Amino acid sequence: MAIIRIADKAGACFGVERAMKLVEETAARCGSVCTLGPLIHNPQVVAALEERGVHAVSSVEDTAGSTIVLRTHGVTPAEEARAREICPEVIDATCPFVKKVHRAAERLADEGFEVVVVGEKGHPEVVATLAHAAGSRVISSPDEVRAANLGPRVGIVVQTTLSAAVLHAVVDAIDDGSREVELVNTICEATSQRQAAAAALAAESDAMIVIGGRNSANTTHLYEICAGICPKTFHIEQACELDRAWFDGCERIGVTAGASTPATHIASVCAAIEALVEEA
Ligand code: F3S
Repeated sequence: MAIIRIADKAGACFGVERAMKLVEETAARCGSVCTLGPLIHNPQVVAALEERGVHAVSSVEDTAGSTIVLRTHGVTPAEEARAREICPEVIDATCPFVKKVHRAAERLADEGFEVVVVGEKGHPEVVATLAHAAGSRVISSPDEVRAANLGPRVGIVVQTTLSAAVLHAVVDAIDDGSREVELVNTICEATSQRQAAAAALAAESDAMIVIGGRNSANTTHLYEICAGICPKTFHIEQACELDRAWFDGCERIGVTAGASTPATHIASVCAAIEALVEEA
């Protein structure tokens, strides 16, 4: 009989739980509410919220006079200013740890550093952070550092959900002794804890299941970390994607989940794995 274990730290983080609570309270009070982009990177949760009157819009202009919730990943100063101009009420669900990245980027820019955001190009959190520091740019890999032609003073902030390994590789490439470098490591604690717990569990598992949105950066990093340790690692969004063949010959099955995955979702995937393993 296979043993199924969930990583010590897995699933919904403080910032996501806070945002969900804010949006649910607001929808219950106002009947309907808009979020600028999906509130979190979990398509199933976002679809369930839509049924309860929470509509994701792609621009502040599309809010049609309704209350707006600023999402967990943060927004640009221009988007926030426009929302405050045209929406009757603005609820800020930006994770406080994301706000810390904004403040750090602003400070470094004020102090004359060339600001680099280490993270994923186009990710909403990175887009918002870039907008908080004039002249800042995003770098995703050590290769990009060589092409970036950076100046003599570089200030670095980090996407909250980046893996520490990627950060260290990029920082080593930037900090080559030829310039002044100030690093503000803004990877959030929830991310570090989930990555460490996933790696520890992957090392003791014959198969690993990583649950979370395919558009979720932190889930993708959990997958990459686990896959580097346990070759039988699979990334799913829902229990229906599980395949019994994945667990053939496996005695220890590990489960982890990205920071946008509710506990109920993890429980249903574990129950589905158990049923599949019993069938075998
Ligand atoms: Fe916030 Fe970290 Fe979660 S930045 S949204 S607590 S992953």
